[in-house]
Amino acid sequence: MASDITNPLRRRLPDGIVPEDEISRAENRWVAIMLSMLAAMMAIIVVTGVTHALHPPSNVETVDPVALHLNGEFAESNLGTAIEPDGSVTARIVAEQYAFVPDCIKVPADTPVKFRLTSTDVVHGFLLPATNVNTMVVPGFVAEVRTTFARPGVYNMPCHEFCGSGHHGMWAKVTVVPREQFPPLAANERTSCAQ
Ligand code: CUA
Repeated sequence: MASDITNPLRRRLPDGIVPEDEISRAENRWVAIMLSMLAAMMAIIVVTGVTHALHPPSNVETVDPVALHLNGEFAESNLGTAIEPDGSVTARIVAEQYAFVPDCIKVPADTPVKFRLTSTDVVHGFLLPATNVNTMVVPGFVAEVRTTFARPGVYNMPCHEFCGSGHHGMWAKVTVVPREQFPPLAANERTSCAQ
C-alpha cells in the first residue's frame, strides 16, 4: 500500500495553487449573487408589468397591407378615434412614407385608450413620450397598445424607426382632451389639429 507522500492525490499543493474546495465555495458565492440579480430583475419586470402595464407590445395579428384602403378596419372612413360600447376609445392609424393617417388624433383623458396601427409600406415607429406607448408598426401586422392618459395634454408623435429619406419629417400629434369634452366631438373634430 502506497504512503500518503507517494499518493499524488494526497500530496500537499505547491504554493500559489488554490485548493479545489476553496474555488468551489467562491464559485457558489458568485452563482448565488447572479441568481439573486436575475431574481431581482425578473421581479422588477413582473411588478412594472402588472402595476404600470409596462411591457413590450405583443399583439400578433395579421392584415393584408396592400388592401388596407379597400375595406375593413383600416379603410379611410374607419380611421381616427371611435367610442366603444364599454366607454373605452379605440384609435386607428395607418403609417406610411412619410405620414401618419390621420396625423392629428384626439383622445379623452382618464379613459382606456387602445391604439391600433398598421403600415402600408415599411417599418415605422409610434411613440408617445413619457407614456407606455411605444411600438414598431410593421406592414402586414396590427400593432396594438393600450394606455390611459391621466390628464389632458398634447403629445408630438415622431416616427422613431428610420423609414427612408423623409423619416425626419414623419410625425403627428395626439391631443388628450378632458374626458367630458370628447363625446360631443364629431368624427372630423376628433381627427383635427384644431384646439
Ligand atoms: Cu416612418 Cu420613420
